[in-house]
Amino acid sequence: MYKSRIKGIGHYVPERVITNEYLSTIMDTNNDWIVERTGIHERRWFVPGKDTVTSMSKAAAEMAIQRSGLDTKEIDFIVFATITADYFLPGNGVLLQRELGLNGIGALDIRNACSGFIYALSIADQYIKTGMYKNILVVGAEIQSSALDKSDEGRSSAVIFADGAGAAVLSRAEEGHQGILSTHLHADGAHAEELYCIGPSSSKEVRISPELIESGEFFLKMNGNAVFKHAVVRFAEVIQEALDANGKSKEEIDLLVPHQANLRISNYIQQKLGLPDEKVYNNIQRLGNTTAATIPIALSEAFEKGLLKEGDLVCLAAFGSGFTWASALLHW
Ligand code: ACO
Repeated sequence: MYKSRIKGIGHYVPERVITNEYLSTIMDTNNDWIVERTGIHERRWFVPGKDTVTSMSKAAAEMAIQRSGLDTKEIDFIVFATITADYFLPGNGVLLQRELGLNGIGALDIRNACSGFIYALSIADQYIKTGMYKNILVVGAEIQSSALDKSDEGRSSAVIFADGAGAAVLSRAEEGHQGILSTHLHADGAHAEELYCIGPSSSKEVRISPELIESGEFFLKMNGNAVFKHAVVRFAEVIQEALDANGKSKEEIDLLVPHQANLRISNYIQQKLGLPDEKVYNNIQRLGNTTAATIPIALSEAFEKGLLKEGDLVCLAAFGSGFTWASALLHW
């Protein structure tokens, strides 16, 4: 059995900065409410005509491949996590594959929202462990700003979600490197409607019509309170599960990278684990919640800042729509 490790990490965020002050000019909100409830000061929204999920993921992937020291042609599979693909079909994996000139290799899309990147990483890890593939591109990318409900009903989520892309090259680890120690995946569909978007739905006689658009079915709906309550419990559980599975203590974690759902959730988990500030990486204050992209973007930033050293013990954890939740414990 082989081991896998993250060999390169990259990200891309759109250049358009959306401040809380700007949001308060287009919807009924204000800076104090947003900062107090979410910790977000600004976020990035895509530049129409320039950024797409494919273009952003290509930029992130190129950075990750360059940092891995590999040639693009050495990538032999793509796992792409997104809930906002450029097309309803086909998936975004094939669009990225085409852009990278990797025609012929397999490409798989994952639709597990905020847990999507860890699910994608887990799948890639299994393929590498079995020897089926050697270098897999694992991507999380989203454009959410084009489908935010800016009315009173939607404003509590409209101020949170944002756009961006991150990518990792997961490769067969060299002898002696422990790489990914374990991944842990969970879901509970009983809570599907606490955070969801119906449209476009194939269960309708007509999948899309002006009436369905008018009804708001194409907007995400979130029961913020329920999400918060479940998130704080599941995050803590799944981090502990990863530690227990590997006989590690929380004190041994060098860096915790939680999905950037909401700064209050991250702070709660940090407090519960008793981790000092320098062991938890947050960037939601500047980038908002980019769903499947938050973890690879955060890892890439942490790498650029020199916060990840060879061999460091890194814990990734996520919670999101489904509900789904997941963690990964790995050596950098
Ligand atoms: N600006 C100003 N006021 C607002 C806004 C806004 N953007 N949104 C809601 N309000 C108002 C409401 O209308 C309500 O007013 P009322 O008291 O007069 O009725 C008041 O603020 C409180 O509304 P709640 O919905 O109860 O707000 P709450 O305090 O629960 O905060 C929030 C909402 C931030 C979403 C919170 O529930 C939360 O943090 N939930 C966690 C969900 C989360 O983090 N989701 C992230 C994405 S999911 C994921 O990544 C896992």
